[in-house]
Amino acid sequence: MIVLGIETSCDETAAAIVADEGSRGRILSNLVLAQLDLHRPYGGVVPEIAARAHLGGLDRLIAQALREARLSLAEIDAVAAAAGPGLIGGLVVGTTMGKALAWAAGKAFLAVNHLEAHALSVRLCAALDFPYLLLLVSGGHSQLLICAGVGRYTRLGTTLDDAAGEAFDKTAKLLGLGYPGGPAIERAARGGDPRRFPLPRPMRGRPCCDFSFSGLKTAVREVVGKVGPFGAREEADLAASIELAICETLAERTERAIRLFRRRHPEGRALVACGGVAANGSLRLRLSALALHSGLEFLAPAPDLCTDNAAMIAWAGLERLRLGFVDALDIAPRPRWPLDEGLPERRHEVEA
Ligand code: KG4
Ligand code: ZN
Repeated sequence: MIVLGIETSCDETAAAIVADEGSRGRILSNLVLAQLDLHRPYGGVVPEIAARAHLGGLDRLIAQALREARLSLAEIDAVAAAAGPGLIGGLVVGTTMGKALAWAAGKAFLAVNHLEAHALSVRLCAALDFPYLLLLVSGGHSQLLICAGVGRYTRLGTTLDDAAGEAFDKTAKLLGLGYPGGPAIERAARGGDPRRFPLPRPMRGRPCCDFSFSGLKTAVREVVGKVGPFGAREEADLAASIELAICETLAERTERAIRLFRRRHPEGRALVACGGVAANGSLRLRLSALALHSGLEFLAPAPDLCTDNAAMIAWAGLERLRLGFVDALDIAPRPRWPLDEGLPERRHEVEA
């Protein structure tokens, strides 16, 4: 089985071809056209600029993905496009292109949930059975989920305000480090003293698995105001303090989720991290130590498969196709599309 994946939900135009290899997948091509330079002057993603850039680059990117995989459209089995959640302009561009190609070539079409694609991306890279515990941390989402099967997700906790990636992006902006903030903070933090600036650890000790990051931004703003002129030393120390505060918070919430997961799924053997923030080296180290301590295996896709890409969209489409799911061509893209639909928007899981 071979699937073409299309990703246009935010500021990355991406196309990829993925083949089924039984217990995992094989990436035949995986191309990303980042729009960073277009959005950088604004310090964040501008939806209309993103949609126009997707429109301008997607057809060539798909043609190149097919060329690199040495395949024609006739040789693939299905087209999968991210259909939400995300910025609607980009989603319309990607799904319309995907549907048109599927229709013209007589192939199946799959409307993929972008969050589900992040959640399943680990199975593209490694033979991992359900259930597993997942920390999904990206620019738009911070969630702890139990993944019990394709389409079977239970949310244990979520962010009450900013996502972890947003916390990196907004505090990086306060430090004048540019966009995207996560990689910029990680770079700036090298050699910095993470204990120099004590920053809050929101939600620490609460008997649930939810996150909150907006207080961190306020605390960083205060430090920046108080310290005065910033030298390289201050920048490194504050970047390191921010990284530590975010990583420690994520790890503490995850530790709590592990206890819930173990109780519900004693057979589960893995802790997985995915989404752009999971590309962070110190978060990976911290989670891997936590997993080891809890008797779980730690898995995370390679950093370039943690940030937005189309290989994960193709793979999620492939997982669904294997189970016999296909979507009709009149399916509409959705700006909001929770993974655990049917549940109320926010559900607090509290430890007994
Ligand atoms: O998954 P992703 O590429 O897009 C969304 O679906 O949101 O995640 C983007 C987020 C951004 O907030 C970015 O700052 C963050 O992931 N990020 C990182 C790192 N690389 C990307 N955060 C911390 N450390 C990194 N190395
Ligand atoms: Zn994403």
